[in-house]
Amino acid sequence: MSSLCGRLTEITQQAFAALELPIEHARVTVSGQVETAQFQCNGAMPCAKVARKNPRDIAQDIIDTLKTMTADQNVFAELSVGGPGFINMVLTPEFVADHLASLSGDDLCGITQNGNGQEVILDYGGPNIAKAMHVGHLRSSIIGDTLRRIYQFAGYKAIGDVHMGDWGTPMGMILSELEEMNFEGEITMDMLAEIYPKASGACKEDADRMAKAREATKKLQDGVPEYRETWQKFIDVSIAGMKANFDALGVHFDEWKGESDAHPYIADMVAELKQKGIAHEDDGAWIISVAREADKKEIPPLILLKSDGAVLYSTTDMATIIDRVRTHNPSKIIYVVDQRQHLHFEQVFRAVELAGIVDEDKVELTFAGFGTMNGTDGKPFKTRAGGVMRLEDLIAMAQEKARVRLDEAELATDMDAQERESVAHQVGIAALKFADLQNNRISDYVFDLDRMTSFEGKTGPYLLYQAVRIQSLLKKAGDFDALAARGNIVLQADDLTLALLLAELPDSFDNALKNNTPHLLCDYAYKLAQGFSSFYGKCHILSEEDEAVKNTRLLLCAQTHTQLVTILGMLGISVPARM
Ligand code: ARG
Repeated sequence: MSSLCGRLTEITQQAFAALELPIEHARVTVSGQVETAQFQCNGAMPCAKVARKNPRDIAQDIIDTLKTMTADQNVFAELSVGGPGFINMVLTPEFVADHLASLSGDDLCGITQNGNGQEVILDYGGPNIAKAMHVGHLRSSIIGDTLRRIYQFAGYKAIGDVHMGDWGTPMGMILSELEEMNFEGEITMDMLAEIYPKASGACKEDADRMAKAREATKKLQDGVPEYRETWQKFIDVSIAGMKANFDALGVHFDEWKGESDAHPYIADMVAELKQKGIAHEDDGAWIISVAREADKKEIPPLILLKSDGAVLYSTTDMATIIDRVRTHNPSKIIYVVDQRQHLHFEQVFRAVELAGIVDEDKVELTFAGFGTMNGTDGKPFKTRAGGVMRLEDLIAMAQEKARVRLDEAELATDMDAQERESVAHQVGIAALKFADLQNNRISDYVFDLDRMTSFEGKTGPYLLYQAVRIQSLLKKAGDFDALAARGNIVLQADDLTLALLLAELPDSFDNALKNNTPHLLCDYAYKLAQGFSSFYGKCHILSEEDEAVKNTRLLLCAQTHTQLVTILGMLGISVPARM
């Protein structure tokens, strides 16, 4: 199956082909002017330009061909030329009804799975060991986890990897701080959160301490057993802390790898890069020139080894790609990382291509950067006291506000304390996630707790409310037979509008997938919820007397519900059983 636009595009392509017009212009879209048409194709104009003909004449030729082609299929109720040569299309209610019937029987809501089981590795989350997770990690986690689900839905084998920062100098700082303290007891997360800032402060002020931290890092990386053991201990407590946060958010990872997993590949990689002449010496350091002639702005060389022989973030990221292509067979690797790391990834991607670590025709490397979450003052979001906002505090804030909102709206009033608390959690998480995902990921956005938790407007709670409302309506309808309803669909004007809207999902999905932009799905979910709301306001449903009309409307309700829950599911948002 596909969307109606997709099906109409196919038909129109055949008409273009029959007229020997270039079929890339045959794309059909939802009409910008719903009063005059449901769909439109603007392809006559570019064709006319090339053929030096009147675009309206070409449009008319296309229409005549479409009419002949579909003469016995009952597709178009109306085909007309508009303005300079637009082709306006109106479908017969039967064609739309037919489409709705197949849509309602399709678990994929009309979406075509093009993934064919290809592997996609998604690198997101990226928390750092021994440091509290903060709001920057929130965006990466939420967007990355959503993309993972979108790829999975499209038929890919999507693998989410948390890629922890667990290997650099900060590790040595902690190890040498523990030595300094003569520490013997049990390592806990609270303790790490205290030690790390102390250690990094000391290293900044005292060159001697810094030297010790570097030495400890080296020993760790060289595999000195005591260092590895202590490191493993604080890795374990850190991961436990991260897991608690990710669980609360409902963010999933298939792999819990980190920078340290790249370590075994580094020595060989560096040796080969030197030997092949891809890396060259520069003032004691080893670098790879990645600039290209066509570059509009300067791309500095990637630093592979520092003059003291230490490896850097770029070195680990290159070696991580080796690990990924050896342990998996990815056709894509997607990095969901702060936009400010764009240059770093550009250098890494170019370097691995130069080195032949990946074949760019087989593995597509994509940087899916995101903007900053700001406070209402337009600066990166902080606590009231001006400190870094911890992720767990942020989640607690959203949940607390959700409770207040539920009270205001007099929702969830008849629930026991436990159910109410779990609904508050669902509403809070829906608010946080939707507020983040609805923005184009590249843009910065303002964290506004009041707005995002509102049950009105383009928010997660509004969508949950709509989904629950349809749920309870369907419950009231009792045993409604979808199969029978599918066989006898009768669409009146407002029903038709909703049916057309329901058919649009695959287009939004495909665009979200193609550009790694979940906000397009958010836009669609909101449009659908609004469309439903207007349908619900205008149409009798349970009180409708005509049986066929009533069942068609219930079918529309059920399909709207399925699609809302499906999209929210992709966004990592779960719908309460009631509210
Ligand atoms: N740990 C990094 C940070 O906090 C993010 C890691 C992103 N992924 C990567 N492969 N470099 O900024």
